[in-house]
Amino acid sequence: MRIAVIPGDGIGPEVIAEAVRVLEGVGARHHLGLELEMLDYGATRFLRDGTTLPKAEIERLRRECRAILLGALGDPRVPEGRHAREILLALRAELDLYINLRPVRCLADRFSPLKGKPATAIDFVVFRENTEGLYTDIGGIFKKGTPDEVAINEEINTRKGVERIIRAAFEFAVASGKRHVTMADKSNAVRYAHDLWQRTFAEVGAEYPAIAREHLYIDALMVHLIKRPESFEVIVTGNMFGDIVTDLGAALQGGLGMAASANINPQGIGLFEPVHGSAPDIAGKGIANPLAAILAVAMMLEHLGASAAARDVERAVAAVIDADTLTPDLGGSASTAAVGAAVLRAL
Ligand code: NAD
Ligand code: IPM
Ligand code: MN
Repeated sequence: MRIAVIPGDGIGPEVIAEAVRVLEGVGARHHLGLELEMLDYGATRFLRDGTTLPKAEIERLRRECRAILLGALGDPRVPEGRHAREILLALRAELDLYINLRPVRCLADRFSPLKGKPATAIDFVVFRENTEGLYTDIGGIFKKGTPDEVAINEEINTRKGVERIIRAAFEFAVASGKRHVTMADKSNAVRYAHDLWQRTFAEVGAEYPAIAREHLYIDALMVHLIKRPESFEVIVTGNMFGDIVTDLGAALQGGLGMAASANINPQGIGLFEPVHGSAPDIAGKGIANPLAAILAVAMMLEHLGASAAARDVERAVAAVIDADTLTPDLGGSASTAAVGAAVLRAL
């Protein structure tokens, strides 16, 4: 089972080093026959020779690998983030990874930032559309740098794209015994594009009579997630809103260091990564929380059909949290490497 690993920039390599140790440990224990291929795509490579991610490489990864594990992309030396778009966003788009699955599960009462809300109140999954919306790079700048400048980014919503992510959310709800799917859009202002979301949600949802449907405007969802997180099970939304709501979701789990995600297409290779970025403010200090990256490994194992191995990783993470071996973002004083080592020991 060949896995491509792209540590990327900033804290990416720091957290991926620990995730790889855990992956190799659990792989050996479960005889998964893993073969890891380390790839150096990221800011340093881009600045050295101009390479972001060659098109042929995407095809090779599709052919040769079962999954990609990615750290983070983003570097202050590349202020416009071109390499991040041409690596991360290109992989999502070219591999048609239309489901960005972002679980929001708080693993300890003391991680909950909400007054009176224990960990059990925070347990839902976000289905973020991952291939269109405002992320398609359709647009341009006219008369750049002049007083007459016009800047346009089109928001693309296709019936196929909207339908397949909404269907994925309902299918997940059925498969995991959930009773409730919430769809968030801004159809009161973005009339035509988000009306498509409203209609598609009603039509697809009608095929799942046992699942209750709730529609919320995205701004109202922000309030309800803070006031009544316990009432959410599955949230489905567009690409940009999904990006934003899952950073709020990360805060509900104790911070970005705890939030993992899967970029998947049921038909093929998947890309697994922490929700967080390269965190330039703490990069190189050895204090980044590796648990989000390690939990992304668990999501990858689950997707590859190695459920027992995935459960082992999750149990090991739970044990490390119980033992309070935590990085500073969670109030601890352990280093990135110490947390990784503790997870490996618990494994
Ligand atoms: P960020 O997620 O990198 O950091 C936000 C805050 O969370 C920072 O204070 C950071 O220190 C903290 N944080 C993040 N991950 C942490 C961890 N594992 N442990 C402890 N603290 C952690 O977001 P940003 O600062 O907006 O972005 C920095 C760069 O990363 C930008 O270039 C951005 O484009 C990029 N980015 C990349 C990805 C990705 O590759 N998937 C995701 C988000 C942002
Ligand atoms: C994420 C990130 C990316 C996104 C950036 C780096 C383009 O914020 O994975 O959440 O917006 O999808
Ligand atoms: Mn984001």
